[in-house]
Amino acid sequence: MVAQILDGKALAQKIQGQLAQQVAELAAKQGRSPGLAVLMVGDNPASAAYVRNKEKACAKLNIASFGRHFPTETTQAELTDVIHSLNQDPNVDGILVQLPVPDQIDAVALLNQIDPEKDVDGLHPVNLGRLVRGEVGLRSCTPFGVMRLLQAYGISPRGKQAVVVGRSILVGKPQALMLLEADATVVMAHSKTPDLAAVTRTADILVTAIGRPEIITAEMVKPGAVVVDVGINRVVDENGKAYLTGDVDFASVQAVASYLTPVTGGVGPMTVTMLMANTVESYLRREGLQE
Ligand code: GUN
Repeated sequence: MVAQILDGKALAQKIQGQLAQQVAELAAKQGRSPGLAVLMVGDNPASAAYVRNKEKACAKLNIASFGRHFPTETTQAELTDVIHSLNQDPNVDGILVQLPVPDQIDAVALLNQIDPEKDVDGLHPVNLGRLVRGEVGLRSCTPFGVMRLLQAYGISPRGKQAVVVGRSILVGKPQALMLLEADATVVMAHSKTPDLAAVTRTADILVTAIGRPEIITAEMVKPGAVVVDVGINRVVDENGKAYLTGDVDFASVQAVASYLTPVTGGVGPMTVTMLMANTVESYLRREGLQE
C-alpha cells in the first residue's frame, strides 16, 4: 500500500479562493473588510515565519491587517492595554497573540484579556468551554484545519477509533474534543503513556502533535490507518543543513497508512486558512449577518 497524500496546500488554496470571493462581496456590501490583528512579541524566528505567513494570507484575501510587532522586553501591562484597545476597535474582528511569548509575559493571563468574540485562535476559556459543550464558537485553527482536511477527503471520524498524541491546549486537547464531536471514540496519548506504540496501533485515525522528529514509525501504525502529522520540527542533518520534518517517519509510514499528510504542505497551510475563515466568521457575527 502507498498512502494517498492529504494535500493541505491544495485544499488551503481552494478554501482561500472561496474566502477571497466572500470577502470581496462582503466588503462591497458592508463598506469594510474583515480585520485581523496578529500580535508578536520578541523575535523567535519560527514565530516570525508563521506571522509572515498569516500576514501574507491576509493580503491575498484582502483582510485588513492590524498586526503589531513588539520588542522582547515589552511588559504585560503594555500588551494588556493593546488588547483592550483592539477589543474596542470596530474594524478589528480577530485578535491573535502569537505563542510562545517571552518569559516575563503570562500568556494565559494575556489570552484571557481577548474579547471571546474576537478570539480567532479559539484559545480563550469561553471558546474552549463552548467546544467542550458542543456549542457554536470560534474553534482553534490547527485542529479545525485537520477536521476540514479529513472532511474534504471523505474521511468520517464517526465510529472510528481516533488516537491523538499530544495534549497541548493549542492542538491535542481541542483536537480530541473535535474528533469526539464528530463521533469518534477518542484516546489521548502523551509523553507519560507507557507503550505508546500499543496505543497508536489501535488508531483508525492517528493525529500526532508531539514535536519530536519522526518518532512515529511504521510499526506504530495500524495498516490502512489515516495519519495526520501536526508536528513541525527543525532538524539539522549531518552536513549542517537545517530542514523541517514532522512527528511521523514519512518514508516508512507511507507504506502502511491509507492516507498521510506531508510536512510541509499538510496541516500547516490549513492552520493559516482556518485563521482566515475564523476572522470572516467573526466579522459575519459582528456585522449581524450570522448567529
Ligand atoms: N504558535 C504556534 N502555533 C500557533 C497558533 O496556532 N496560534 C498561536 N497563537 N500561536 C501559535
